[in-house]
Amino acid sequence: MSSSGSKLLTLAMLCFIIFLCPLFSTDLASAAVASPLKVGFYKESCPSAETIVRKSVEKAMSRDATIAAGIIRMYFHDCFIKGCDASVLLDSPTAERTSKANNGSLRGLEVIDEAKAQIEAQCPATVSCADIIAFAARDSAYTAGGIYYAVPAGRRDGLFSSVNDVFPNLPGPDHNVTILAEKFANKGMSVDEMVTLSGAHAIGVAHCPTFSKRLYNFSATHAQDPSLDPDYAELLKMRCPPGATTMVPLSDLAPQNRLDNKYYAGVRKGLGLFTSDQTLMDSSLTSKMVADNEKDGASWGRKFAKAMVHLGSLDVLTGEIGEIRTICSKVAPGQ
Ligand code: HEM
Ligand SMILES: *[C@@H]1O[C@H](CO)[C@@H](O)[C@H](O)[C@H]1NC(C)=O
Ligand SMILES: *[C@@H]1O[C@H](CO)[C@@H](O)[C@H](O)[C@H]1NC(C)=O
Ligand SMILES: *[C@@H]1O[C@H](CO)[C@@H](O)[C@H](O)[C@H]1NC(C)=O
Repeated sequence: MSSSGSKLLTLAMLCFIIFLCPLFSTDLASAAVASPLKVGFYKESCPSAETIVRKSVEKAMSRDATIAAGIIRMYFHDCFIKGCDASVLLDSPTAERTSKANNGSLRGLEVIDEAKAQIEAQCPATVSCADIIAFAARDSAYTAGGIYYAVPAGRRDGLFSSVNDVFPNLPGPDHNVTILAEKFANKGMSVDEMVTLSGAHAIGVAHCPTFSKRLYNFSATHAQDPSLDPDYAELLKMRCPPGATTMVPLSDLAPQNRLDNKYYAGVRKGLGLFTSDQTLMDSSLTSKMVADNEKDGASWGRKFAKAMVHLGSLDVLTGEIGEIRTICSKVAPGQ
């Protein structure tokens, strides 16, 4: 053993003896959780990658501004289920895509595919689909809300996707604040991050069946959810007659497709579309966070950026693990 090695060993032993070890182990722990991802990961290997993604997002948004919402949600679903490994994009009869939470409601897949095709033409088998989703989600947040952050990259694509992984990991629109906090805690994410990221529901759309229970069939004592603003409930009933499978805007307060903190004003007034939105008023901890985010949009935007980066670090595959797909919906041949 080298002399510096033996010195370190002595130090470690000393640490245990004089009870300084908590300091030592805290250092080790923070080193262990430091993200293996790097900003500028493709600077040498594919310098145009992030520009290509940004242009694809901007082009898609000029045709349909709501597509930003679809891409941000795709990123959330990718990262919460088996980590940010683009497993959400794999196409098979038993893949995540076939889950009730994704089937028919994932949007923006064509934006990822277009960016991937252009990137493959310039730098074959170099840039992962998982990183393309992460870049595209950032570009969506920027274009829809002026929220900018650098995206650490270097994710690899996963080889597997199973519909059975969706339900246990993903929060549902009927979940209350206790279950929501638990689902986020399972991913190492805080209650504040959960409340902050829920602000993404300022933009995009929802299908009537995801909330119609609140209008027609809420509980044994209330046909209509009493936490829902009554005028808003009337509007939603017009948009979603019983049995409807059409879509409505997720937020009626924010000018549609502007990602800002008006979501929180809506939640405070009983205009949260899902139980999972309105339930943020059910605990004093989260209702205080709602009020704070409503008051200070700039601070919410900064927290949103940080939480999006954290979300993008969940269970990532790096180094030699996983693969770089050439088509995002298919495992690359030879795997
Ligand atoms: C807190 C737990 C959450 C629940 C229960 C939830 C649930 C849902 C549901 C049911 C929809 C409607 C899908 C449809 O019918 O088309 C939706 C849409 C959406 N969600 Fe969430 N979500 C949650 C958190 C998040 C997070 C963390 C993000 C992103 C950071 C997010 C971003 C979005 C966006 C942008 C849409 C609109 C999608 C579109 O327009 O295509 N959600 N969410
Ligand atoms: C997914 O959607 C398609 C077309 O809308 C439908 O035929 C299929 O049954 C759905 N699958 C699941 C699992 O809901
Ligand atoms: C939240 O939902 C769970 C599961 O449905 C339930 O057991 C729990 O009592 C609920 N908590 C609150 C505070 O309503
Ligand atoms: C109302 O909810 C109950 C229990 O979830 C369900 O059995 C029933 O079919 C629902 N009725 C309607 C009209 O959706």
